[in-house]
Amino acid sequence: MVQHATSSVDLVGWVHAKRDHGGLLFIDLRDRTGLIQLVVNPQQFPDLASLHLESVIEVEGTVVLRSAETVNEHLPTGQIEVSVERVIVRNASDVLPFSLEESRAENVSEEMRLTYRYLDLRRPSNYQRLLRRHQIAATVRNYLNNNGFLEIELPILFKTTPEGAREFLVPSRVNPQQFYALAQSPQQYKQMLMVAGVERYYSIARCFRDEDLRADRQPEFTQIDLEMSFIEAEDIHNLIEGTLQRVWKEVLRMDLQLPLKRMPFREAMDRFGSDKPDTRFDLEIKDVTGIFVQSSFKVFADVIANGGVIKAINGKGLADLTQGELKALEDSAKAMGAKGLAFIRVEESGWKSPVSKFFTDQEKAALAGALSMEAGDVVFFAAEKWERACTILGRIRTDCAALLQRRGRLSIDGNRFDLLWIVDFPLLTYDEETGRYVATHHPFTAPVPDDIKLLDTNPHAVRGQHYDLVMNGVELGGGSIRIHSCDLQRKIFHDILKIPHEVVEDRFGYMLRAFRFGAPPHGGIALGLDRFAAMLSGTTSIRDVIAFPKTQRGQDLMCQSPSPASQKQLRELHIAFK
Ligand code: AMO
Ligand code: AMP
Repeated sequence: MVQHATSSVDLVGWVHAKRDHGGLLFIDLRDRTGLIQLVVNPQQFPDLASLHLESVIEVEGTVVLRSAETVNEHLPTGQIEVSVERVIVRNASDVLPFSLEESRAENVSEEMRLTYRYLDLRRPSNYQRLLRRHQIAATVRNYLNNNGFLEIELPILFKTTPEGAREFLVPSRVNPQQFYALAQSPQQYKQMLMVAGVERYYSIARCFRDEDLRADRQPEFTQIDLEMSFIEAEDIHNLIEGTLQRVWKEVLRMDLQLPLKRMPFREAMDRFGSDKPDTRFDLEIKDVTGIFVQSSFKVFADVIANGGVIKAINGKGLADLTQGELKALEDSAKAMGAKGLAFIRVEESGWKSPVSKFFTDQEKAALAGALSMEAGDVVFFAAEKWERACTILGRIRTDCAALLQRRGRLSIDGNRFDLLWIVDFPLLTYDEETGRYVATHHPFTAPVPDDIKLLDTNPHAVRGQHYDLVMNGVELGGGSIRIHSCDLQRKIFHDILKIPHEVVEDRFGYMLRAFRFGAPPHGGIALGLDRFAAMLSGTTSIRDVIAFPKTQRGQDLMCQSPSPASQKQLRELHIAFK
């Protein structure tokens, strides 16, 4: 910077801040590369004093070195300033609806920031997030391009499919009463590309799902989507690991140690109570069914007699839980389907618990050993069917971690990224409501070859060739080796998922036909780019890394969408509202 001193410059940008020091006016001029301080004689340019922040100006002037005592160490341009000789106001701004100061951003409601998203995005931190997202996408593209992949755009106007999330429907004007569905993902098309002999495809694909929105869910989002032929799960893992390592190097300037851990679904559920475990902290769940097989506590005894399990977790050091916090944990457990949340507070004076009076000394001793219980701990129990017991305590585990963090007893390094693969998922999940099996991932996922023989006799035990990539407790991506045999795919649709024949023909007939013409073995994966970019930017909301996100109610507040259609449009689409 110092080398620029005494050179004359012509700069354009936004008036970021103004400080009036009587005889001199200091302006911070901002563009996307940063800030520079302008020094203006207010008598020479009287209009500038009243100019609102965020006005666009062009200045000519001379770069001068700041005196030693006015150097700003916090600014890359802090050693210099520009003495202004000429000013053109390119566009005077109105008074801003809110301050763009980073330090004040938290005080501005999200509603306000999204309504004026173009102003919110001017804050350098938001620009940095867009930049980071771009760098991730660019690095991924480069890596895949260099590994023989073709980037191919696939249709967004697709057709409705019965499995998966709720879809957005688009009426067809030229085909009255017919609808497209916006693609939930390019899944079926990318498989057709494999049948078409492309072998290696990727795209940065827009996907649409009419879901209830949360911090990590948007109705339109982006996947890094890819598919390969003649490969096995291990090849996809290696490819993704190589891609991630490159992103870590180029974007984060960090080394990513490979290979990533692989954890079977069953182990993830048993130890962490989730198929997307946050492995940055311990607080592991234990199975204590064995301790209570003879229990006189009716709740536990009944559950065990009905094939359920007793699981427990030690919230290490949380015995000082307030009544309010305990109530919140019970509510969490109930939201996950728990009937109750038995607990023991371990105090110096002994155990405080609504249930431990039912335990024998022997059971107490075994429990204390199994959970390493010490004064200051609190232990929670879930007595339920296996999967529910796991997910209840999985939720209690993350809630406890949050309480410990708030008390400063658990700290998680913001630069820590715990990546792992979850493997060996069950191919099928039993849906109690409808009384039938549904695909755990999607119906195109291939069973583990050794397990195909179990499809008719013991569908629950069949493992799918499905893998999820998990980072810091978030599902970053998922994929699988696909079925490429027409007969097996038909069997899954008809015999296992019990989809009616005419529905299979209507929705998937083309796919079954395609598989009869030499479909190669293939598989792939999709990573959620929004979640990826959010985590690598240190934010938990994907709205922060989407240029123009939707609100919880699916609205774009800036341009006010969705909005009513005109009668004429509706008529053309053959839609009549009474
Ligand atoms: P899946 O449905 O698991 O797989 O999606 C892959 C990844 O996409 C991200 N994701 C979302 N991100 C933001 N908002 C949403 N509403 C949303 N839904 C999903 C997640 C998720 O891990 N076609 C398959 C992939 C395959 O088998 O190749 C698929 O879409 O990060
Ligand atoms: P109850 O006999 O229903 O009054 O329950 C006694 C204690 O056990 C209460 O603290 C409940 O919260 C707890 N509890 C009840 N059912 C379960 C369950 N299925 N798993 C864990 N705790 C339970």
